[in-house]
This record gives sequence, C-alpha cells and structure tokens, in this order.
Amino acid sequence: MTSFLLSGGRIVDPAAGTDETADLLLRDGVIAGIGEGLDGKGAETIDVSGSIVCPGFVDLHTHLREPGREDEETIAMASGAAAAGGYTAICAMPNTDPVADNAAVVEQVWALGREAGLVEVAVAGALSKRLEGKKMADIGEMTRSMARVRMFTDDGHGVQDSLFVRRAMEYLVAFDGIYAEHCEDASLAEGGQMHEGERSAALGLRGVPAEAEELMAARDIALARLTGCRLHLLHISTAGTVELVRRAKADGVAVTAEATPHHFSLTDATLSDYDPNLKVNPPLRGESDRAAVIAGLADGTIDAIATDHAPHADHEKDQEFLYAPPGMLGLETALGLAVTNLVEPGHLSVAALVERMSTFPARLLGLDGQGSLAEGSAANVTVFDPAAPWTVDAEAFHSKSRNTPFGGMELRGKVSHVFYRGTRTVSDGRLMSEALV
Ligand code: DOR
Repeated sequence: MTSFLLSGGRIVDPAAGTDETADLLLRDGVIAGIGEGLDGKGAETIDVSGSIVCPGFVDLHTHLREPGREDEETIAMASGAAAAGGYTAICAMPNTDPVADNAAVVEQVWALGREAGLVEVAVAGALSKRLEGKKMADIGEMTRSMARVRMFTDDGHGVQDSLFVRRAMEYLVAFDGIYAEHCEDASLAEGGQMHEGERSAALGLRGVPAEAEELMAARDIALARLTGCRLHLLHISTAGTVELVRRAKADGVAVTAEATPHHFSLTDATLSDYDPNLKVNPPLRGESDRAAVIAGLADGTIDAIATDHAPHADHEKDQEFLYAPPGMLGLETALGLAVTNLVEPGHLSVAALVERMSTFPARLLGLDGQGSLAEGSAANVTVFDPAAPWTVDAEAFHSKSRNTPFGGMELRGKVSHVFYRGTRTVSDGRLMSEALV
C-alpha cells in the first residue's frame, strides 16, 4: 500500500483538540504520525499548504436506493459521490425495496458497500416491518448481523403510534441502540407539499405546519426521558424543534439532532416557480427557522450536519410539483454549502464544522477508525481548500441522479484529496477511477 506525506496543511482533529499547521504521514493504511520532520521515506509527498486536513466526513443520513431502485442510485455510485464529497463513511437509510427490516437486507447493503470499497457503508435498520409502524422489525437480529446495526429508523415516515415508540425504545435500550425519528405527525402533514406559511398560501399549495414536526419531537423526547433510550432526531427544520432539543439536553435527556445543508441554506422563499427539485421532506422552512437551525449548529444543540441525500430519477422529478417525490441530492454539495453558509459568515469555526461532519457522526455510530486522526487509527482523511471557489455542475456529479436545486450556484470549500483506509479515493478533486469497481 502506498504511503503519503501530506505536507504543510492545517490539521484539524476535534477529537484530539488538534488545530495546527503540520505534516501528516499515512503509512500502511494507518495514521503514522503528525508533526514536523516526519520520516516520509518512500512516501509520496503531497503539498497541502493552505488546505484543511481532517478526519474523513461521516454522513448519518444517505438514501442509497439499493436494493430495489437501482435506476435512481446504486451503492457503488453513491459511494463514488460520497468520496467525491469528502466522505469516508455513510449510513444507508432503510427505506429500500425490500425494506431493510431484517438481517438479510442489512447484510446485503453492508456487503455491497464493502465491494464498492470507496467509503465505509454503515446501515440503519428499520424500526418497524415494512416501515408500517405496527410490528417491530428484527432489531436484535440486525444488531447481531455482519452489518452490526446500531441506529434504527422508519425515515421517510414518522412513527405515529406512541405505544409502538415506547416499546421500541424499551427494546432498544437492551442493545444500546439508537432510536432515530423522522418527526412528522401524519394527520397534520397529510397532503402537504411545502412549508405552511405565506408562501404556500401565495402558491396555492397545501402546507405542512412546523407543528407537525414539533409535536412528534416533543413526544419522542418525553418517551426518551421515560425509557432512557438514546434518541436521534433526523433532519430537524424548525425553530421550535431546535428549542425543544436545546431544553431536553439541558434537562439531561439523551437526545441528539442533525440538520441538512438544504435546511440551513434555503427557505420556502426560493419556491417561486414550482421547481420539483425544491420539494423535500421536511420542507424548506421560513427564514426564522433557517436562522434557528444555524444558531443550533453554532451552539451545539444540533450535533451533526447530515445530507439526507435522496436521489430521484429524472422522470419522477420532471413532473408537476404535486406529483414529484420529495428529496434532493446532498453528498457532493454538503461541504461547499457548509463552508459558504456557515463558516464564511462566521457562524461556525472550521473545527466545529469538522466536529459536526465527522467527529460526532462517527462517535454516534460507533465507527472505529472514523472521525479521528489519532496515530495508529485507520487513515480516513479528507483534505479541502476552504477558500477555493467552484460552481455546482450537476452533470459532473457521480451520483446516478441529478435532482439538485443547487446547479449553477457558486460555492467555496472544495475537496481536493480523500483517503479511505489509506487508499487515495480522490486526488486533486477527481475521483480516482482505479479505485472504482
Ligand atoms: O425528502 C425526503 N426524501 N425526505 C425523506 O425523509 C425521505 C427521502 C426519500 O427517501 O426520498
């Protein structure tokens, strides 16, 4: 295996409290040292001065669509998109066809991820059989499977039955599992196309009120307090939910939360011409919600930036707003959106960005060798230039789908090199084709 000496970069590793200009040596697939004058004999030296060198990003929320919808995305192509976006690990959501509600499906996803070999593919299992919210999925079996599932969710749907939630949480405590919720009260959200507010009234589209998310977040926090289960709130989008999480944390409830790049970058005001690429669930909210999400990311109420990468085929998105499925791509724009909308305006330090995109997600999922540059740990490393400008070109994406509203947008913050277990997956911003299967 080739060795690399990354020379003169700013090394940011929040797990170790490191933020210094130094060299980083990768040898035989592991981090061999950080400092000056390292013995780089036989290593390829890469000048990374002016760039950030950090643990590879870890995405808590990726829709890979395989098995079942390989016309939208495959595990191999999503892995390429992830690597290009600076990720060394992603967590597959279970709303596939068949649903990942048993050991056979989670093992299939995990094995296909290993075969693609570009990032670590962790797997989230469903909470309920077929995501119906009625009968519990094979949680114990998935925990003990090769995929060693740790996080369980019916993402795409909120779990409506509170007794089911209580029982699932009680059960998960025994496995130290994480109950992850897509907070959406179905009766309040039914038929909703976008955020409920002035804009939905102006466009004549039925809205989803913020309360549809907040009611379920409040219920889950209460049940997490009751059961002692670890609760993770997916893609939170409203000021009220941010405040609920803030208060629950202060009260000592074991709750964590994530927010997506689209919820801190866009609002419902962008929905003027019924562009289906702006249809997403939860919907883009108002400006005060966006500001609250940013404040939550800044003060640590929101622990992670997660993409909710949701590929959809052209023929599905290319129809009236009403009929288009919700979701947008995220893996290849997350860093640029985070640098441009969080770091450059001064909301988040680079160290906090790395904490939210790598350190915390790796810790939540318990991924050894991710989220850390400690000597001896697997060499999962991302190098990015925080000042580099670039223009989003959806045609250049590695994902199989093209559904992004960010095409043509000017961003700053560009991935230049990525190493997964010591193998270079991205070099000078280009996905290494030899690493592709
Ligand atoms: O917009 C979304 N799309 N939100 C979800 O929760 C599910 C996702 C999908 O699977 O397409």
